[in-house]
Amino acid sequence: MCGVKFPTPFLLSSSPVSNTAEMVARAFEHGFGGVAYKTLVIDKTKIIHPSPRMAKYNYGSKKLVGLQNVEQTTDRPLKDNLLDIKYLKKRWPKHPVITSIMGFSENEWIELAKMSEDAGSDMLELNFSCPHMTVEGSGMKVGQTFDLVEKFTAAVRKVVKIPILAKMTPNITDITEPALFAKKGGADGITAINTVRGLTEIGLDDYVPKPNVFGKGAISGFSGPAVKPIGLRFIAEMAQCKELNLPLAGCGGIESWIDAVEYLLCGASILQMTTGVIHYGHRIVEDMCEGLSDFMTEKGYENVKDIVGKALPNLHPTEAFDLKRQGIAEYNLDRCIGCGQCYIVCRDAGGQCLEWDGEKRRPVQDKEKCVSCMICSFICPVCDPPMITYKEVKNKKPVIPSVSK
Ligand SMILES: Cc1cc2nc3c(=O)[nH]c(=O)nc-3n(C[C@H](O)[C@H](O)[C@H](O)COP(=O)(O)O)c2cc1C
Repeated sequence: MCGVKFPTPFLLSSSPVSNTAEMVARAFEHGFGGVAYKTLVIDKTKIIHPSPRMAKYNYGSKKLVGLQNVEQTTDRPLKDNLLDIKYLKKRWPKHPVITSIMGFSENEWIELAKMSEDAGSDMLELNFSCPHMTVEGSGMKVGQTFDLVEKFTAAVRKVVKIPILAKMTPNITDITEPALFAKKGGADGITAINTVRGLTEIGLDDYVPKPNVFGKGAISGFSGPAVKPIGLRFIAEMAQCKELNLPLAGCGGIESWIDAVEYLLCGASILQMTTGVIHYGHRIVEDMCEGLSDFMTEKGYENVKDIVGKALPNLHPTEAFDLKRQGIAEYNLDRCIGCGQCYIVCRDAGGQCLEWDGEKRRPVQDKEKCVSCMICSFICPVCDPPMITYKEVKNKKPVIPSVSK
């Protein structure tokens, strides 16, 4: 990416998982191919992390489908971080270090960029996107003020030779706009996404949103599997923007090799992750490398870059759909276990095309009435192979629900 080679496309993203050389080195040993190092600032006295700084979002029995945080940039001394970066480059020369930086003035951006390059960083990542900085007018506030994105990128561009990534906020309507300003300023690539502004849980006894920082909550950064659709969308939108035409680092909810392949197919060249590492540890990357390799072998790809953007020709505005082609949910009743969930969901939320045969404990479908919403297949417990699949029906007219009598 941007002329820099990565041993694997998996990187730690800038966050607590990339906070020290020791953590990063262990991640490299497990198969991470690079790091976006935790965001550096000039004056660490400005940075005090709220306590506690994270809250979980569990859904049913599934833990950490999301993670809420109010963490700031690094609170370690700048010189310690620069020494750590130097050490990493000496010990792991083939593993690129992308140093994330955030200035609180133009001079600070310039100073941080020069120092990071001098320490041996392979690339810079400009943090225009932290959504909950306690230092006024920084992070996402800069990313939402497009002139500043261009101005600070240009200031950094003037003083370093290494490639520059601009890390974008998803807390915006059209991400291609600030990305184009970053390009105008001289960015070589874009990273997306930083965390999505959200609220996960509210205490039911004290009514305080979590994390509960001594009686106060805040709308703040949300990450993890729940944000993957948002990250994927922003990557695809930038990849489809011809005017932008910059390499992309994908981030947001990547926790499996399938997530990784999807980001590559939508146009990301490298992949960054945090919440997956918080949840599962560094070893998560071993399965991801293996899964990606198996996928590539099966499909006949030699290089990761050959997969990049392969889904984009199939991604269209909805106006492009061929509405003359219609279909139905097809039932293989030999596999039915008689639970009746399809009947209930179709009756309560679908096209009401099923009757229930209580004697045989089987659904009876009126194919004419099926609207092919497919919600029955989403809740059917029979999978692998699934009992309910989509089937195109030639010359089927779209179903328009009639007025009930
Ligand atoms: C606790 C925490 C701290 C983070 N700190 C930073 C940071 O200092 N700089 C930055 O650019 N992004 C930061 N991020 C955002 C992540 O790098 C990443 O963009 C986001 O979490 C989405 O990826 P994920 O779903 O894999 O976690 C942080 C995320 C978390 C959860």
